[in-house]
Amino acid sequence: MIQEEYTTEATLSVPESGTVAWESPSNIALVKYWGKKPVQLPANASISFTLKNCYTATKLSFSKADKRSVKVFVGGQEQPSFLKKIETFFERIESYCPYINHYAFKIETENTFPHSSGIASSASGFSALALCVLSIERKAAGLSDADFYKKASFLSRLGSGSACRSVYGPMGVWGAHADYTGSSNDFAVPYDDVHDVFKTYQDTILLVDKGEKKVSSTLGHDLMNDHPFAANRFEQARNHMLELQKILKSGNILDFNRLVEKEALTLHAMMMTSDPYFMLFKPNTLNIIHKVWEKRTSDNIPFTITLDAGANVHLLYPAEYKQLALDFIKDELIAYCQNEQYICDEVGNGPLLKMEHYA
Ligand code: DP6
Repeated sequence: MIQEEYTTEATLSVPESGTVAWESPSNIALVKYWGKKPVQLPANASISFTLKNCYTATKLSFSKADKRSVKVFVGGQEQPSFLKKIETFFERIESYCPYINHYAFKIETENTFPHSSGIASSASGFSALALCVLSIERKAAGLSDADFYKKASFLSRLGSGSACRSVYGPMGVWGAHADYTGSSNDFAVPYDDVHDVFKTYQDTILLVDKGEKKVSSTLGHDLMNDHPFAANRFEQARNHMLELQKILKSGNILDFNRLVEKEALTLHAMMMTSDPYFMLFKPNTLNIIHKVWEKRTSDNIPFTITLDAGANVHLLYPAEYKQLALDFIKDELIAYCQNEQYICDEVGNGPLLKMEHYA
């Protein structure tokens, strides 16, 4: 990439102080990103639905200082344990945003979903923080909306790969792919060439296991480097991106279901065949999948399942089946959810600016 394009002049006249707040959503990948090269470049292109209700709300307060300092508060409580990840992120972005080295920052952040729900907060968390930081630059440099979101996505990627897709709704595409115009390994691009049915798609997240993941995504990505099936997997993902593009346009839900489930199961098959192998499925993950498949066949309801790097199951379906889905969950799936918990979400339109004040 052309580094200069993302680097801000060190002489930029940024505000003395201020507060910026953004809400940025989580996302669920349909074609999965699994495998990366340093720093944060994907081994294959991926595409996701941006969610609506699962988001991180982050408020960034800043005032000029001799050198950078950061304090983090989560749900009102100071959380020094979050500093390491945020410091790594700031180190990765400082050459693109040199002004961050001259501020004392206070970050106040909160997720709408329970912290220990097993839902990755890195996508919503890093995109919210990147949007807050870049708002300072937009104020000083007057970035166009297109440039603002592009650089916000670029910065988010350096925090967590999947975070770069959260900057756009209803869908984001990350990773260079010949059939997706403007796609890049450096940042995500918005994607909305989709049939109406997908614009209101529902995602009910069945919380199977709320514990900390035993294997982090970062380690899982690393294991793809020497994975015996990696080359085939990356080739398959490339083909799936093209297939899905056609499906999204046509609105063919049966083809959508087949492809999305193949992606989810391939992701987990990669984990189960890594060296060392690992498995994030729990018994209730499988119980849910089998119940959903039975219901789909018996009642002819176009449910599909997907998973990210965890045991929770995302149940995807068109909005018109919402009531049927909720009844089915209450009657037959809730027994497999930890503390009977599930989260109702749907496709959303991307991040929201909540507050902006500069002095
Ligand atoms: C399975 O984006 O969490 O959810 O870049 O190391 O932060 P890092 O990984 P992360 O990986 C997400 C993996 C996934 C698939 C996806 O979202 O595409």
